[in-house]
Amino acid sequence: MKRVAILISGGGSNMLALVRDMLGEHPARPVLVASNDPKAAGLARAAALGVPVAAVDHRPFGKDRAAFEAALLAPLLASEPDIICLAGFMRVLTPDFVQRFAGRMLNIHPSLLPKYPGLHTHSRALAAGDAEAGCTVHEVTADLDAGPILGQARVPITAGDDEASLAARVLAQEHRLYPAVLRRFAAGDRTPVFLP
Ligand code: GRF
Repeated sequence: MKRVAILISGGGSNMLALVRDMLGEHPARPVLVASNDPKAAGLARAAALGVPVAAVDHRPFGKDRAAFEAALLAPLLASEPDIICLAGFMRVLTPDFVQRFAGRMLNIHPSLLPKYPGLHTHSRALAAGDAEAGCTVHEVTADLDAGPILGQARVPITAGDDEASLAARVLAQEHRLYPAVLRRFAAGDRTPVFLP
């Protein structure tokens, strides 16, 4: 049974999708939900599902990323995770942190990577006049939003779309894609998942 720690920064809708999927028959189970924001709404939602939670506020550490990560590592390592899922986690991690979990840390990004790494993915796709958008689950490497792709889901962009409508359409697919990828990954299968 693989032990999964999930890092969040906000509402945690992707975390909830992962935790709910692991409630049933599944090769993994959630052992911790941690956030860089003690006020992240996802913390209460995780606790309500019986998942241990932790919060390490990144703000007191200022620009000292390594010090924040050292503080985050305490509860994280205590949960003895086999896999780490970044789910709406909005802090850039140092290469040292990433290296420590090389090959077993996943992230979901709201674009069809390699297109649109970084922020504001939906407004960029709209501005480019793309016909479709989507989301990607990838292994986390030192290069931001650039690790091996483990899954993608595509959605059409329609004429009346704005950033909010497109984000909502993509988010719904994130909630399907991430659980599907984690199931497969936790079973030791790295074959990418492509959702129609
Ligand atoms: C989602 O768009 C996800 O792709 C990005 O963060 C956003 C919020 O995620 N990484 P969540 O609702 O907090 O899971």
